[in-house]
Amino acid sequence: MLNNNTFDMKSENRGSFSSKIGVILATVGTAVGLGNVWRFPYVVGENGGGAFLFVYILSLILLGIPGVVAEFIVGRHSQANAVDSFKKLAPKTKWHWIGYSGVLAGFLIMGYYAVVVGWTLEYLIQAIAGNLSNMTTAQYGEMFDQFASHPYLPLIWMVIVMFINTVIVARGVSGGIEKASNILMPIFFVIMLIMVVNSFFLPAAKEGLLYLFKPDFSQLKPVAILIAMGQTFFSLSLGMGCLITYSSYFKKDVNLPKTAAQVVGIDSLVALLSAMIIFPAVFSFGMAPEQGPSLVFKVLPNVFQQMPVGTLWSILFYALLFIAALTSLISLHEVVTAYLYENTSLSRKKSACLVAGMVVLLGVFASLSFGVLSDVKIFGKTIFDLLDFVTASILLPVGGFFISIFVGWYLDKRIIATELRIKHPKAHLFVKGYIYLMRIFVPTCIFAVFLFSMFG
Ligand code: PHE
Repeated sequence: MLNNNTFDMKSENRGSFSSKIGVILATVGTAVGLGNVWRFPYVVGENGGGAFLFVYILSLILLGIPGVVAEFIVGRHSQANAVDSFKKLAPKTKWHWIGYSGVLAGFLIMGYYAVVVGWTLEYLIQAIAGNLSNMTTAQYGEMFDQFASHPYLPLIWMVIVMFINTVIVARGVSGGIEKASNILMPIFFVIMLIMVVNSFFLPAAKEGLLYLFKPDFSQLKPVAILIAMGQTFFSLSLGMGCLITYSSYFKKDVNLPKTAAQVVGIDSLVALLSAMIIFPAVFSFGMAPEQGPSLVFKVLPNVFQQMPVGTLWSILFYALLFIAALTSLISLHEVVTAYLYENTSLSRKKSACLVAGMVVLLGVFASLSFGVLSDVKIFGKTIFDLLDFVTASILLPVGGFFISIFVGWYLDKRIIATELRIKHPKAHLFVKGYIYLMRIFVPTCIFAVFLFSMFG
């Protein structure tokens, strides 16, 4: 039977990140993921390079940082999961529906994210086995299509990925999530650095970098603004209570605005560095940058095989992608698990297993939408594409909109001031400015972009 004591005990023993570096690594771990290494370079490629980058950076500063701070305030102050945080801060209201939408978004994103993490594992193993070499461009394309549409191979990888993920999440906040981030993220940065240095020595390094950094505003289509905003939310794990959940494990001495700026800074740097690895390589070996989502699976192995010690670069790259994706998948898993754990009599381990089971079920449909279910279209999209669209383009921006309204209009200003804890004579001006951003500026931007994308 459920009783209140179980819940009281659970909410008292929630655990927390044990060190400040753990806070940064875990939060950077959720933010840095497929969004940076896989999605960002192809989105830049499809939207005209440097001009898009300019819009993206604006969006990061104006929407990203304030949005991250908003979730941090809600999470750290309430010390609760994505749903209960709103119940605590706004009892007897409907605000906690934001949390439900977040838990749902987390679950839906996992449904396709886990499939792609599975692909990265397959490619990592193939690279280690030395199988990603000596093929023609067409053969690399075929290899990916055959694998992704295979009736059970990608499913096996997805199950393995969810198993690893569950083991980590079941171990709890400091013993599982923080420990995994503390080990994996430094490895990630070392690999990234090696690859960036290598890319500077490629024949078309300059061309690749110019494409990325030289803005040509005539290339910028209006829809790119929406895409930039969607990418901001997705890449920063914003709008679905992920950062609420993580910051509920922050101790009181964590400086929220500073941490937010650091996380946004590192996340953007990683996205840029990924593009700096990929574009020079793609240009050097005569490929096109606007390949879309299959860029890293179809094009890159072909690019790497033409470099000296190509197998090594493939192994490093897919290891990089796998680590980035895994630490994000952990955070998605944690959002749903924390909610379940703190609202049922289930143990953390059982909650984590149950979530994983449901994700695998959804993932089967997402994965098969590249194969036997490829003809099943809902609103003209495959199941995989639909999950991506509904989450990144709808649930995350809508979640972000309501979180900013909540913080800007509903939440007591004193809570905001306490959580921002700025020791400066003009601190009140900063708090005022921040509240103005959350009241008017952020929601208006999200709303305008949203309307424009739906009806424009
Ligand atoms: N930020 C992650 C990425 O860039 C994806 C993600 C979205 C993770 C939402 C958690 C929550 O890949």
